[in-house]
Amino acid sequence: MQTWTPNSWRDKPIKQQPTYPDATALKDVEHQLRKLPPLVFAGEIRSLREQLANVAEGRAFLLQGGDCAESFAEFSADKIRDTFKILLQMAVVMTFAGSSPVVKIGRMAGQFAKPRSADTETIEGVELPSYRGDIINDNEFTAEARAADPQRMLRAYHQAASTQNLLRAFAQGGLADLHQVHRWNLGFVEKSPLGEKYQHLASQIDQALAFMEACGIRANTTPQIHETTVYTSHEALLLGYEEALTRQDSLTGGWYDCSAHMLWIGDRTRQPDHAHVEFLRGVKNPIGVKVGPTTGVDDLVRLMDTLNPENIPGRLTLIARMGADKITEHLPQLVRAVKAEGRSVVWSSDPMHGNTIKASSGYKTRSVDAILREMKGFFEVHRAEGTHAGGVHFEMTGQNVTECIGGAYQITEEGLCRRYDTQCDPRLNGEQALELAFLIADTLKAARG
Ligand code: PEP
Ligand code: CO
Repeated sequence: MQTWTPNSWRDKPIKQQPTYPDATALKDVEHQLRKLPPLVFAGEIRSLREQLANVAEGRAFLLQGGDCAESFAEFSADKIRDTFKILLQMAVVMTFAGSSPVVKIGRMAGQFAKPRSADTETIEGVELPSYRGDIINDNEFTAEARAADPQRMLRAYHQAASTQNLLRAFAQGGLADLHQVHRWNLGFVEKSPLGEKYQHLASQIDQALAFMEACGIRANTTPQIHETTVYTSHEALLLGYEEALTRQDSLTGGWYDCSAHMLWIGDRTRQPDHAHVEFLRGVKNPIGVKVGPTTGVDDLVRLMDTLNPENIPGRLTLIARMGADKITEHLPQLVRAVKAEGRSVVWSSDPMHGNTIKASSGYKTRSVDAILREMKGFFEVHRAEGTHAGGVHFEMTGQNVTECIGGAYQITEEGLCRRYDTQCDPRLNGEQALELAFLIADTLKAARG
């Protein structure tokens, strides 16, 4: 294999990139980005790798979630806080009811670039470039808005920096204190049956904390009680941006993509001899790879050879996104191959991207039923193969949106229009996400016997 450098991907074929009209302006922005501070640090990235090694070895569970795409217009402290709260809430349900440590990773602070099924979109005879996420262009259907603008990378960087800053403050500044579990319930969830179920669990946690305190285990001596870590992740799609934020660690000499703790390769850009795999093989971050219904055993083995040749636990997360009808048919052979080859991976389930449908009203949606079916299929396959179902990957928000149908409130196709706010794919709302967390907790508990 050839020598890796942060820009060796530039010699490979590449998919899903925008065409920038002004190459000089693009170079200038990439140059500016290279001089800006890293958003995360190598030491933190190594800690996440160690946490994920625990997941790979069956001692912990991974919860990864957040927006399909972050947007410039929807950027606010309240939205970040609410997604943070729902992640914490789901994690505490899984930890307490499922008795499993949970590693939390947000699709946050950098999840801006989107792969698209077509390069252009035609409306009433007018053909324009597709919207590719706020880091690239604007969703409005005009030629100006759809032109790729490199300045957007700088804006995305600064938004990611303030999101990251707030996440750190929430994680360490008191909101994540286990004494606050009742406060993590979101307003609109509070009055629902799930909200009540959650409050009941929160009261049990209060009792457990009081008991521990009586035994002398206190927040001031046990940091896990009053703070947490929420790591960040996004799809490493726009490689010029990723390259510019890739830095050499002074301590170890290794290269780290300091735009997020974890990066993943999407289902459309995982060709083993293409640019995305080339770029990610050289950075030391934990890497995810989406594994779709068309991923063959040979492809997968080749990807593991390239991305994790030393078989380092925690380095590689395989994110299965097959679709509810395909998972039990397609996943077993892949799980068996990984096991037979003695590879260490985290197996995670993305039950969202294989289950996107178009409602008769035209909205892109997903049904909680299908999501649940795929997730159950994922757990079943791992139980049958004797492997660890390591985690889940959701598109979700703390907001009270109506983008996925079903769930405890039974959002219907007609109800989708009420609060359909997503920038791209339909997300679970806070209540639907919490419902899934309780179901996962039951499964984790059952798996422990
Ligand atoms: C995504 O996670 O938003 C995504 C586009 O997924 P996939 O690559 O699995 O389609
Ligand atoms: Co998506």
